[in-house]
Amino acid sequence: MSEQQRPEAETDAFVFSPRKNGQAQSVSDELAAWMRTGWADTEMRDLEPIEQAEHTARRRAALSEAFPGERLVIPSGQLLTRSNDTEYPFRAATNYAYLTGDTTDGNCLVLTPRDGGGHDAVLYLKGRSDRDNGEFWLGGYGELWTGRRNSLEEASALLGVATADVRTLPGALRADGVTTRVVRGHDAEVDAIVDELRADADADADAEARAKSARLDEELAVTLADHRLVKDEWEIAQLQKAVDATTRGFEDVAGTLPKAKDTSERYIEGTFFLRARVEGNDVGYGTIAASGPNATTLHWTRNDGPVREGELLLLDAGVETTTLYTADVTRTMPISGTFTDLQRKVYDLVYKAQEAGIAAVAPGRPFTDFHEASQRVLAEGLVEWGLLEGPVDRVLELGLQRRYTLHGTGHMLGMDVHDCAVSRQETHLYGDLKPGMVLTVEPGLYFQPDDLTVPEELRGIGVRIEDDVLVTEEGRTVMSAGLPRSSAEVEAWLAERLPR
Ligand code: GLY
Ligand code: MN
Ligand code: MN
Repeated sequence: MSEQQRPEAETDAFVFSPRKNGQAQSVSDELAAWMRTGWADTEMRDLEPIEQAEHTARRRAALSEAFPGERLVIPSGQLLTRSNDTEYPFRAATNYAYLTGDTTDGNCLVLTPRDGGGHDAVLYLKGRSDRDNGEFWLGGYGELWTGRRNSLEEASALLGVATADVRTLPGALRADGVTTRVVRGHDAEVDAIVDELRADADADADAEARAKSARLDEELAVTLADHRLVKDEWEIAQLQKAVDATTRGFEDVAGTLPKAKDTSERYIEGTFFLRARVEGNDVGYGTIAASGPNATTLHWTRNDGPVREGELLLLDAGVETTTLYTADVTRTMPISGTFTDLQRKVYDLVYKAQEAGIAAVAPGRPFTDFHEASQRVLAEGLVEWGLLEGPVDRVLELGLQRRYTLHGTGHMLGMDVHDCAVSRQETHLYGDLKPGMVLTVEPGLYFQPDDLTVPEELRGIGVRIEDDVLVTEEGRTVMSAGLPRSSAEVEAWLAERLPR
């Protein structure tokens, strides 16, 4: 969209309000005037679209087709306050990044229905800080504080979509009476505008129409999750990149285990985080660095426990790429480098269950198959060890193995670690696997330190093995095959990396 076509931006002047105890309490007219001038033209021209641009255009077209005649609003999200004037690191909303390829805060994609069918996509952005307006150096979010932003023209060229000033968004949303759906929960101001529009429409509607309007946003979120279930080629390459960086992060950790023994699980978390920040955007979820009995807590992210010789370390971690695709990998490794006989016995059963689970991942197979295959192997093992009373079919029917297995055997993986969680059950939980789907296979066994139903020597042992698996036309590819899986492979891998 050219400058001329862009709707008029609201020109409300920036008002400088000094912090109560800030050292600069006022701005002289001379300084204000001088700050407006003397800046070079840094506009970037002749930019080529980013790689994803053709994919994002196709994704927007699919969404447009699903909701003819309706306005669709997809915010990127706003910064969240951590404390006082500090914020949490920003991470753009998944659906926004999926549809635009952009990962910056405070923006919003709007698909507006076009007469005669289809939609016009406009990305409402902050654009450059206005140099006529002191905000660029006086406001805490101006470009001289937080960094240069793309101009509307630059963003349009890079992302392959029309852009407009985000200050015109409220007016655009209120412009006419079309049915509007929003990806809710990312931008309170946008949600409030949509609520206001809907309240106006609902005031004249009957009960059935009001019930329908209550479901509008949920249907949008569900449809987007459905669309994201099968990954395109570009997404698969991003996920492989995330997995490969994660592999290197696990190798880093293996090399620093002695240092962790001198400190705590935090050393492991920090070591992995360094890799995530250098090669990607962040970790895709809070790293679980669980040593000894902490491994029996499924989402142990406190990571403040000791790392002791003779115990197991369960590391569940994933690098998120700068394009926001994450890996999700777990390895359980002996801190000393060698499993004890008992640790190996537990590990080998989980490994056998994972092998069965991975083998059940294939196109056309129900999503639930790999879970059932893994659970059967675990239940068989637990009956054989005398921890559960057979027959195995009874154990499985009653779910008794779950006292020690606790969680499902895997989930979809993509931009979210538990990806497409809100998609329809018919396409996901009760659907069949399709080529292009990526999922984790992650059986585990957890014997709680205070579980009197297991022999004392098993108490406090937790083992999970988690890999990321792509469904292919022929069957599957284990994307995280660069890391060892069997107990012997884990020991050999550690032997190469543990400093002598
Ligand atoms: N990292 C969480 C999970 O494995 O699902
Ligand atoms: Mn997982
Ligand atoms: Mn995991």
